[in-house]
Amino acid sequence: MAGKQLSIGLLGCGTVGRGLMELMDKNRALIRDRSGVDLQVSQILVRDLKKERPGVDNALLTTRPEKVIENGCDMVVELVGGLEPARSFIHRALTGRKHVVTANKALLAADGFSLRRAAALQNVRFGFEASVCGGIPIVRALRSGLVGNEIHSLSGILNGTCNYILTRMADDGVEFTDALREAQVKGFAEADPTLDIDGHDAAQKLKILAELAFNGRLETKDIPVEGIGTVTAEDVRFAREIGCVIRQVATAEVLDGALSLRVETVLLPHDHQLAAVRDENNAVLVRGDAVGEMLFSGKGAGSLPSASAVLSDIVEIAKHNGGFSPPAERSIQTIKPDLSSRHYVRLQVEEPSAIGAITTILERNGITVRRAGAIWAKTPQGRNHVKILTQACLQSVSEKTFTEISALDMVIGKGVVLRVAQ
Ligand SMILES: NC(=O)c1ccc[n+]([C@@H]2O[C@H](COP(=O)([O-])OP(=O)(O)OC[C@H]3O[C@@H](n4cnc5c(N)ncnc54)[C@H](OP(=O)(O)O)[C@@H]3O)[C@@H](O)[C@H]2O)c1
Repeated sequence: MAGKQLSIGLLGCGTVGRGLMELMDKNRALIRDRSGVDLQVSQILVRDLKKERPGVDNALLTTRPEKVIENGCDMVVELVGGLEPARSFIHRALTGRKHVVTANKALLAADGFSLRRAAALQNVRFGFEASVCGGIPIVRALRSGLVGNEIHSLSGILNGTCNYILTRMADDGVEFTDALREAQVKGFAEADPTLDIDGHDAAQKLKILAELAFNGRLETKDIPVEGIGTVTAEDVRFAREIGCVIRQVATAEVLDGALSLRVETVLLPHDHQLAAVRDENNAVLVRGDAVGEMLFSGKGAGSLPSASAVLSDIVEIAKHNGGFSPPAERSIQTIKPDLSSRHYVRLQVEEPSAIGAITTILERNGITVRRAGAIWAKTPQGRNHVKILTQACLQSVSEKTFTEISALDMVIGKGVVLRVAQ
């Protein structure tokens, strides 16, 4: 079924812009099924027309912003980055009553409140899911999923570079500078990583999330920040000895009726939910009065995860802009895979001699026992149980084998067979 056409003017075709083009291309039919809209990119603004952009139609490229913004498109997607000219581009689009989607964290932190206000005054939509935590839908969760909650606190690992460095220091016992160099080689850290390391990047993201969670306007300068640059391998070792890991955590919480905001380098006990967040991943722990505690975690940056967030804003706007998608008629094919796994089995038996017969059947079906145990009850009403942990075997084999075993006279009932998940 052909959907309604929605035309997009794309500003910028770098890491995120190319990811977006790739994702729209790959999932075009899926998006149409889910939103009832056919997405079309009308023009793309770049600086350098000669740059190689695999998968992108060169005929769409231009260096003239007005050709993208004022060409009758329905929506402008800003993926240029930085404050200017991105801010002017967005204002121009809003003034022309175009919906806008952006991934621009720096601009949102500096001007998010007034941009959101300008969009509301023009009665158009303004999406910025990708500006915080890349592919994690935390902005949407705060704006709609959790909208019925009073938020008590929000804390998170918002900077992937710092988390990557702290994870490497803990895993490999290396010093900060070596871990930072590795992060730069792998492309997780900028050539100038100051904004990340000193906590200001996390503070910008915290401001964007806290403005949504606590409904109001905040200033980044009011957020005290603590960097991770002074952490040594010795600190990380000591933290481990006392059952902790070191993490950079950004927090916004209501204390005595007022909001407290901070970015700190802290020790977290191993069983803290944020302690399990490793490498360049991000996570946000939200506490709401109705929902209780909720953890959102995943990839905080990168071409496709960020493009996924941009696309979610685009489709959301498309749906509110006349997109209509009745539930798909086709029935979905399902399969039952024959998984290979270990199995835990508990059987009730009449007497200990049952073990011999059970072992014979297991051997005949090629199932190796990894561990076995038995509980023998002495009373007449008591129950004798045999417990077995098998080596990995196909589910079909285990089902056949334990059906055979439960048919033995000395085995009572069907027993319990549980797959050990990987
Ligand atoms: N990279 C990530 O993982 C990530 C994650 C979340 C959010 N973001 C945000 O997404 C935005 C884009 O990031 P990115 O990594 O995709 O940046 P990028 O790779 O540097 O791409 C920027 C694009 O904008 C174009 N551009 C820049 N300045 C321009 C100007 N003055 N006029 C015309 N075109 C201009 C560039 O053109 P040329 O190609 O011709 O140079 C390029 O295509 C930023 O706001 C960033 O903070 C990025």
